[in-house]
Amino acid sequence: MKKLILAITLLTLVALVIAGCGGSGGAAAGPGDVARGKALYNKSTIGTKSAEGCVACHKYDEKEGKAEKAPYTKETAKRSATRVPGMGAEEYIKESLLSPDKYIVEGFNKGDMYQKFGAELSAQEIADLIAYLLTEK
Ligand code: HEC
Repeated sequence: MKKLILAITLLTLVALVIAGCGGSGGAAAGPGDVARGKALYNKSTIGTKSAEGCVACHKYDEKEGKAEKAPYTKETAKRSATRVPGMGAEEYIKESLLSPDKYIVEGFNKGDMYQKFGAELSAQEIADLIAYLLTEK
């Protein structure tokens, strides 16, 4: 009987851990929504701590000025497909958001991109942002 209780406890724990892996927001995310992602990307502040929004650093293209604070938004998906050998655009964009310092774009430095989006955006917001950036080819 003790063994059975132990087994049930373990299974419950495993199930809880799997359920909790949906992302930072806790709740599992649905598929990313391009329109929602685009709107989020263009907000001046974002996330639970109202951090500077993406466009505070990322200009859309040359017409908006020099890419001094961050790479241009235009063609993010295209560049993302080839930045890291063996890594696809979706995975690269996700990593750029959650662990920006894992790969540093030439001309920029560690720490230049805001580091806490992983903790301050929900899994759904992250999925939406990725869906949008994948359309910037
Ligand atoms: C404080 C400035 C800043 C903010 C705010 C910021 N970024 Fe960035 N981002 C950068 C910099 C600098 C880089 C390039 C350095 C690097 O690779 O970490 C970068 C790189 C990226 C890349 C990789 C681009 C490439 O060409 O390889 C993506 C994707 C990205 N950011 C998405 C976002 C999204 C989405 C947001 C908003 C949730 C955001 N960034 C907010 C500064 C910022």
